[in-house]
Amino acid sequence: MRERLLLLVGLAVLVGAALYAARERARQAPLVVQPSIPFPHKTHVDAGLTCTTCHATADSQSFAGLPAVRDCLDCHAAVGADTPLLAQVTPQLEQAASRKEELPWKQVYQVPAHVYFSHQRHVTLARLDCEVCHGQVKKLTSPVVRQDVAISMERCVTCHQQQRVTADCLACHR
Ligand code: HEC
Ligand code: HEC
Ligand code: HEC
Ligand code: HEC
Ligand code: HEC
Repeated sequence: MRERLLLLVGLAVLVGAALYAARERARQAPLVVQPSIPFPHKTHVDAGLTCTTCHATADSQSFAGLPAVRDCLDCHAAVGADTPLLAQVTPQLEQAASRKEELPWKQVYQVPAHVYFSHQRHVTLARLDCEVCHGQVKKLTSPVVRQDVAISMERCVTCHQQQRVTADCLACHR
């Protein structure tokens, strides 16, 4: 009887570990298809732009926000930006703008609907660097297609415990 129980517990642990490993593999794999515009973070950060120039609400709202097509075109015109890659991309941007369409980016960092997360809280109040949660975005020469730092409940809770912030289920699950 006791041995059977141990066997069952052992099996449950094995199945759990296999499921966990499968989920971790899924996290390592690219989460989205390559967006159609070859946007390089590196060129922009090297040119001196800060993260919140483009992710304009990261310090004031829950959502960090993405630039609109008009923002790309207006800034390039204003700074007289001119590179071979830009020459290739600009017609695509102009076409989208003339159709009043936005670029088809897919969100890579996303929490499920039952989790509440606020950028303002972490960027402005907790004064955390974007890098802590998003890694080396500034080095990317092509769009973000995978999480450099994986989002997981364990990561959220570990930091909260270290910084003596609430780990109450209902703080994050509302
Ligand atoms: C606040 C200003 C600003 C905004 C907003 C902006 N860019 Fe740029 N972009 C620049 C600067 C500065 C450069 C570098 C130009 C140079 O070196 O001549 C650049 C260069 C580029 C290049 C060429 C990169 C290379 O390595 O050759 C691409 C492609 C590009 N931007 C796409 C975009 C897209 C797409 C958007 C909107 C989603 C955007 N940019 C928004 C300022 C901006
Ligand atoms: C404490 C961790 C943490 C920090 C610090 C953080 N983020 Fe995020 N970020 C997240 C999480 C979690 C999501 C997914 C949120 C969701 O699904 O609503 C996310 C999503 C995003 C997104 C896509 C969705 C959106 O909100 O627009 C962008 C862009 C982004 N972050 C940029 C930034 C920038 C720029 C900074 C620094 C100014 C920053 N983040 C700081 C954890 C963080
Ligand atoms: C010139 C505008 C611009 C600047 C400056 C900029 N970003 Fe972005 N960011 C974008 C655009 C456009 C996207 C969507 C395309 C992509 O994924 O690369 C994006 C995507 C992201 C994403 C992925 C969002 C998601 O979940 O899909 C993160 C994270 C992010 N940026 C963080 C940063 C950080 C951190 C910095 C500063 C080091 C920064 N960005 C600077 C324009 C910018
Ligand atoms: C690297 C550390 C760190 C990580 C990672 C982190 N947080 Fe936080 N979080 C903080 C700090 C510090 C505060 C307190 C900020 C303040 O209000 O002063 C906070 C506050 C919060 C609050 C408000 C709590 C309250 O008192 O009501 C929520 C909700 C929250 N975080 C959710 C999340 C979620 C969801 C994640 C994971 C996706 C996450 N956090 C990841 C550091 C972190
Ligand atoms: C600091 C924020 C935070 C706290 C506190 C927190 N969670 Fe979570 N929880 C998350 C995030 C983020 C996810 C989504 C993780 C992912 O996408 O893999 C999650 C996912 C879950 C899930 C879905 C299963 C899964 O792994 O995807 C369950 C169930 C859950 N949490 C239960 C709880 C319970 C019970 C508590 C209290 C003991 C709790 N959570 C406390 C942030 C938190």
